[in-house]
Amino acid sequence: MFKKLQEASDYIRSINGTKPKIGIVLGSGLGVYVERIENPTVIPYSDIPHFHETSVEGHDGKLILGKTQGVDVAVFQGRFHVYEGHDLDDVVLPVRVLSFLGADFLLLTNASGGINESYRPGDLVCIKDHINMTGKNPLVGPNIAELGPRFPDMTQAYDLELQELIQESAKKINIDVKRGIYAGVLGPTYETPAEIGMLKAIGGDLVGMSTVPEAIAANHLGLRVAGISCVTNMAAGIGGEKLKHEDVKLVAQQAMQKFSDLVNETVGAIGKL
Ligand code: HPA
Repeated sequence: MFKKLQEASDYIRSINGTKPKIGIVLGSGLGVYVERIENPTVIPYSDIPHFHETSVEGHDGKLILGKTQGVDVAVFQGRFHVYEGHDLDDVVLPVRVLSFLGADFLLLTNASGGINESYRPGDLVCIKDHINMTGKNPLVGPNIAELGPRFPDMTQAYDLELQELIQESAKKINIDVKRGIYAGVLGPTYETPAEIGMLKAIGGDLVGMSTVPEAIAANHLGLRVAGISCVTNMAAGIGGEKLKHEDVKLVAQQAMQKFSDLVNETVGAIGKL
C-alpha cells in the first residue's frame, strides 16, 4: 500500500510539483466547479499508477491541479465507490495520495437523499457528522503506522472550524446551507422506506453511498475534513416518489452553480487558515 501511494504521488508530482493545500472530491454531477481552477493541470485517472477508471455516469475520472481564490488545490473529479466493486483501499486511494502530496485539508462533496423533512431537493447541507452504515471500514487490516494510528479518534471527524467557515461562506454569498448528519450506506440500491425509517430513528439527516470511507481514511491521516452535500431527492418513503438516478443527476445539475459558488467561497476561506 505504501509503495502504491508513493508511486501514484510521485507520478503526479512529476507532472505538477506544486503542493496543494486543499483537496476537493467532487460528487455526482457536481463537476462544474473545476471551471474555477486557473491554469489547470488535468491528469486522467487512467494515467496515474494504481488509479482505476470510474464507471458511474456523471463521474469523470480526472485529477485537476491548480489555483483558485489564491489557494493551491487538488480536485478529484470522480470518485471510486464501494458499490462499484472497488476494494476500500482503492476507494480511499485519492485521499491518501492527497496527503502524500502535502495537503492539510479535505473537502468532500456528494449528492444525497434527504431524510430530514425540513430539507428540499436542491438544498446544500454542511455535514456535521456521519454514521457508518456500510458495514465496512477502510482501516480494517494491519495498521500502516506511517499513515496514522491504529485507533483513530473520530469525535470531530468533520472539523468544527471548517463547519463554521462553510456557514460563514454561505452567508457571505447569500446561500442557505443546512447542517446535518450523513448516514453512509453501501448501495447500489436506493434504500427501502423501512431502512430510511431506521436511519431517521438513529439520527441521520442525509443518506448517501460515498464520503464515509474517505472521511475515515482522512481522519486516520490527520487531515482536517469538511463535507458539503447536495440533497438531490427526498429519501425513499419521505417524498413518496420512486427514486431514479436521472432525477438525482438533474437536481444536482440545477444546484450546481450554487454548490460551486459555495465550494469556491469556502476554499478561499480555508486558504486563509
Ligand atoms: N440514497 C442513497 N444515495 C443517494 C440518494 C439516496 O436517496 N440520493 C443521492 N444519493
